Amino acid sequence: MKTRKKQPQPDSETIIPILIGAWRRLHKLSGPPDVLQTREFRSVVAAVKALEEQSLEGVSLIGQDYFNNPELLGAYLLYQWVVHYQQALSIIGELPRTPKRVLDVCSGPAPIAFAALRHGAQEVIATDQNNAALQIGAEICGRYGLPLTVRKWNCFKQPFPAEGKFDLITIGYGLEELFPTTRKDWQKEQHLFLRKLLDRLTPDGHLMIIESSFGESNRRVLQLRDLLVSEQVPVQAPCVWRGECPALKTANSPCYAQREFEKPYLIKQIQRAGNINLSSLKMSYIIFCNPSAGWPDTGDKKLYRVISPPFDSFGGKRFYLCGTDGKKYVESRLTDHPPESRAFEHLRRGELISFDNVLEKQNAIDIIEGSSVHVAAACGKPLPICTDFTSED
Ligand SMILES: C[S@@+](CC[C@H](N)C(=O)[O-])C[C@H]1O[C@@H](n2cnc3c(N)ncnc32)[C@H](O)[C@@H]1O
Repeated sequence: MKTRKKQPQPDSETIIPILIGAWRRLHKLSGPPDVLQTREFRSVVAAVKALEEQSLEGVSLIGQDYFNNPELLGAYLLYQWVVHYQQALSIIGELPRTPKRVLDVCSGPAPIAFAALRHGAQEVIATDQNNAALQIGAEICGRYGLPLTVRKWNCFKQPFPAEGKFDLITIGYGLEELFPTTRKDWQKEQHLFLRKLLDRLTPDGHLMIIESSFGESNRRVLQLRDLLVSEQVPVQAPCVWRGECPALKTANSPCYAQREFEKPYLIKQIQRAGNINLSSLKMSYIIFCNPSAGWPDTGDKKLYRVISPPFDSFGGKRFYLCGTDGKKYVESRLTDHPPESRAFEHLRRGELISFDNVLEKQNAIDIIEGSSVHVAAACGKPLPICTDFTSED
């Protein structure tokens, strides 16, 4: 019998000591397995800051193979790795089923590949131009008890590194490095590259892209979405709207995802020392379906993705939505919601919701007495029609 698959938890208690161990072996330093000593910690914070600012001692890291620098590779393991792993853990949860065969492009030390393994993927191939990063990624997965296959692959210099098709191809924080906006024809080349990846999907496979939530990266993902949607490539998540992206039609109107960040102590310490302000996980992401698949069938009920935090407005508490019928907002003046609409009080950016008995006027949805609010898919969960998220036999 098929049972509903549980979402894996980050399991930081197991993972942080594995990451610190990998950091120690990389630097050939002995020491406690679960904490850094003061001098070690300082050097990690400085390198984390350099990675965040994409600049080391005044020299830009863009276009450099910066994982050749052990300070940067080591620091990445103890900070960015954890952030990207938790992001991917949530986003992979939005797939309709567990992918069996996965290719992770621009994998680095493999946080996204590891998230796919944690979700139960059977074969995961991580590729990157940097072999040192891949080897550490394989070591981390191996120590956790999950086997990762690695292949050195420079996307521009070598032929495609694997035969056959994939249920999931992931590329996390890679597009900006592969196709910097300063490069001539970057959009055309990015498009060609992604079309090639789409060709490698199984009929019900998916291509998952994660980038930062900031301005240019966010626009890159939204524009890419519009381009591929205009070529009939369906979107699995987060968009349920099939038209042109409303966020691109308004200046300075980003659309990104937000998830809870389960912060291990080490991350809190690094953030405090490095003055890094990141309370939740924020990222731009999109999951495309195989171009030959249709858009996921969500039935006739209107569905809306919550795309903002709550705002105080004239009409009460307000959230912006992007739904099967376009961009809207929902608000309510009710201060004490009955059980049917109580979900409104706890809505979170990223949730997929539906309503009954609401007042609708143009783009406004008003929750009044007698309305009901349903969460059709929580953050990190598949669309409601795709509930065959099952454990493998
Ligand atoms: C920011 S890291 C992302 C690593 C990982 N996916 C993550 O989410 O943390 C970008 C990766 O892209 C890789 N990369 C950059 N240019 C590449 C190229 N031309 N071919 C293959 N990998 C490349 C870098 O080596 C680096 O590991």
